Amino acid sequence: MEKEDPNIYFVTGNIHKFNEIFNLFSKENMKYNLKRKDLETIEIQTTDLKKVALFKLNSIKGQINGSYFIEDAGFFVDTPLNGFPGVYSSYVMETIGNRGILRLIDDFNMTKAHFTSVIALYFKPLDKNLFFEGTVQGKLSKAMIGSRGFGFDPIFLSNEIPNKTFAELTIEEKNKISHRGRAWSKFIEFLRKNS
Ligand code: IMP
Repeated sequence: MEKEDPNIYFVTGNIHKFNEIFNLFSKENMKYNLKRKDLETIEIQTTDLKKVALFKLNSIKGQINGSYFIEDAGFFVDTPLNGFPGVYSSYVMETIGNRGILRLIDDFNMTKAHFTSVIALYFKPLDKNLFFEGTVQGKLSKAMIGSRGFGFDPIFLSNEIPNKTFAELTIEEKNKISHRGRAWSKFIEFLRKNS
């Protein structure tokens, strides 16, 4: 019988995401060690975040022996941008960035925004793909504030901590309420039950 791999691999090139998840993982008494692997993944363009995550997960099939997961997130400005940039978040961040998003807004009193995170896990012991989703609701900050975090963090104010952008929070504070933190809680719950 093949020996079980003691590691679980988070496939990501984003060190901020890894640090957030590592911080949560290190609070658990799991039988796995969390490792980062930076592999080439394929990201398709569709409006369904879960489909993007599944395709990404399948694009690394066969390259890792044990269990592994990827995480895919999107930033949605529901009011007034009807969910833009959503699944195009990476491209928008690389092109117009936070400053460009803020320029699209006329009335900051009316904004609504959310982040959604999907963790897609290939769980070797069950030979199965599993998904864990998390969302955080909030609004846009009028200006970019804070130097922590990454991506859209400087312009997002959550409903839970409306006076600080995500970029002003510590990793622990962000993890407690964030899309990724919430997806992660479901993931951990599954691992607890299945290992
Ligand atoms: P992806 O999941 O790496 O494809 O993320 C899409 C885009 O959203 C990238 O530009 C990320 O920088 C941004 N993003 C993902 N997660 C977060 C977050 O927790 N805070 C701020 N921006 C994020």
